[in-house]
Amino acid sequence: MTDFTVADDGFRFDGKPVRLLSGALHYFRVHEEQWGHRLAMLAAMGLNCVETYVPWNLHEPREGEVRDVGALGRFLDAVERAGLWAIVRPGPYICAEWENGGLPVWVTGRFGRRVRTRDAEYRAVVERWFRELLPQVVARQVERGGPVILVQAENEYGSFGSDAVYLEWLAGLLRECGVSVPLFTSDGPEDHMLTGGSVPGLLATANFGSGAREGFEVLRRHQPEGPLMCMEFWCGWFDHWGAEPVLRDAEEAAGALREILECGASVNLYMAHGGTNFAGWAGANRGGPLQDGEFQPTVTSYDYDAPVDEYGRPTAKFHLFRKVLQEYARRPLPALPPEPRGLAGPVRAELTGWAGLGDVLEVLGGPETESGVPPTFEELGVDRGLVRYRVAVPGPRQAYPLGASGLRDRAVVSVDGVRAGVLAEGSGPLPEPVAGPAEVELWVESLGRVNYGPRLGEPKGVTGGVLHERQYLHGVRARGLRLDAFEVPGAVAAVPFGPVVAAAGAGDAGRTGLFRGEFTVEGAAGLGHAGLELPGWTRGFVWVNGFCLGRYWSAGPQRILYVPGPVLREGVNEVWVLELEDAGGPWVELGPGAPVRTGTPGVVQP
Ligand code: GLA
Repeated sequence: MTDFTVADDGFRFDGKPVRLLSGALHYFRVHEEQWGHRLAMLAAMGLNCVETYVPWNLHEPREGEVRDVGALGRFLDAVERAGLWAIVRPGPYICAEWENGGLPVWVTGRFGRRVRTRDAEYRAVVERWFRELLPQVVARQVERGGPVILVQAENEYGSFGSDAVYLEWLAGLLRECGVSVPLFTSDGPEDHMLTGGSVPGLLATANFGSGAREGFEVLRRHQPEGPLMCMEFWCGWFDHWGAEPVLRDAEEAAGALREILECGASVNLYMAHGGTNFAGWAGANRGGPLQDGEFQPTVTSYDYDAPVDEYGRPTAKFHLFRKVLQEYARRPLPALPPEPRGLAGPVRAELTGWAGLGDVLEVLGGPETESGVPPTFEELGVDRGLVRYRVAVPGPRQAYPLGASGLRDRAVVSVDGVRAGVLAEGSGPLPEPVAGPAEVELWVESLGRVNYGPRLGEPKGVTGGVLHERQYLHGVRARGLRLDAFEVPGAVAAVPFGPVVAAAGAGDAGRTGLFRGEFTVEGAAGLGHAGLELPGWTRGFVWVNGFCLGRYWSAGPQRILYVPGPVLREGVNEVWVLELEDAGGPWVELGPGAPVRTGTPGVVQP
């Protein structure tokens, strides 16, 4: 029987000392047919282990509707085939720049501030989920011949709370569910974080991007013995919409990696390969000293300035890391697998079909509700997507400012069918005052739920009210449009598309809507990827052959969306664009894709 243990002086595999050279790769951010290639890249870089989170909300979007937990098992099997060990971080909270930090909206909507605490009802749903999920992990533990050597309890809990009762209970639950490999926690190397996040008897690890010696010193104050491990070595960082891209110099990052290894520690590169936040699953942050300030939604790409870029290609960082890791790997490193081939471009996809948002909502939307105050997305059961709110301004009455309080996140507003402005959190009222009687429509989009800090799980929608002067406008009709609805086979075909010329003549309506078109690919077999650009388009989602590439937004910095090669077909391919603000084109362009990270390395993460 093989076993993996935590000894006073380090990790041991079958009694022999071993150093973990691990890299993060989230199976849910990479197309399944590309797992093998990406894992081979990690092995070629000199890693002996891969780490993944598990997003609860992807697998149980509605209570009791558990979907494809087998994906985790299939990924772990691919890890084994690649000759790597695996570290699993099942949460239930994962942070990860992922919508709601991985918590389903039905959980945060129901329990609010009680999530990630000892609350009995919250614990009951976590327990149910873990009992569904963990068999995938348990059967693949190293003692049963599988690749899994370590499992994490919670995630950076010390950056969030101090409920030791909850944390200990969670560790006990993992054990009860059959997890027998060593458990660990991971936290920032700060006294309050390590105090809040550690569990007696569990290995504590630290997360940082630089300053290994100082970081490990702090960790040692809390854990005098045992293996040293940096569980998240942030070798790059992520981007927010509307902000400068964050880059990290490759030489400097390689130096920081060397420092970790010189301390005798194990490491997990976060990220070794980042991938993509497909289908609107990107999360968001809030700035400020209490992490409850300015709203900062995360972009679709999760390239992360990682050594293996979003397109699966080795970067300068890859080659420098490989050199460092080679010294510690104590074996010849495998050769790099062939570099993925991009679409020879450019190819233009003309969009010839169009349907207004109202018609799309008729076919794909949920039922319309009517209530005094506007329901939240949570109350309507919308995780990713939008909600149309309609409310009347009574009249006759004179013109007053009209706005929405507690708006999350962005609303395109019309008054009597005419575009009246775009509102965002804290943006103030519409540019022009509104007189009554009038019919007001707000199309509100969630730009991703906060995944870190005290605002984790805050609800979306008009969470205050629609205000005319100081008066709430009550009697609101609301209807949700979940992004999931587009995935149902045949659903989009039922939308009454007209010719796209109708869009041009449709006044304000033609500025938004669902657009449909085609493009042709030759030599699709074996294609690694394409990049898709939307010149002149403003904000929305795009699908290729029914696969949702994610959100696009002219706010930048991301301009090109990653299209996985396996999504492309030989011959005719279909594209849909859901524009929520102001259409461009009517075409989109496909090409070979571009390096996501260009520019001068600038400010780095903490
Ligand atoms: C923390 C979290 C990760 C991720 C990183 C930043 O360390 O644990 O999930 O959010 O920050 O990328």
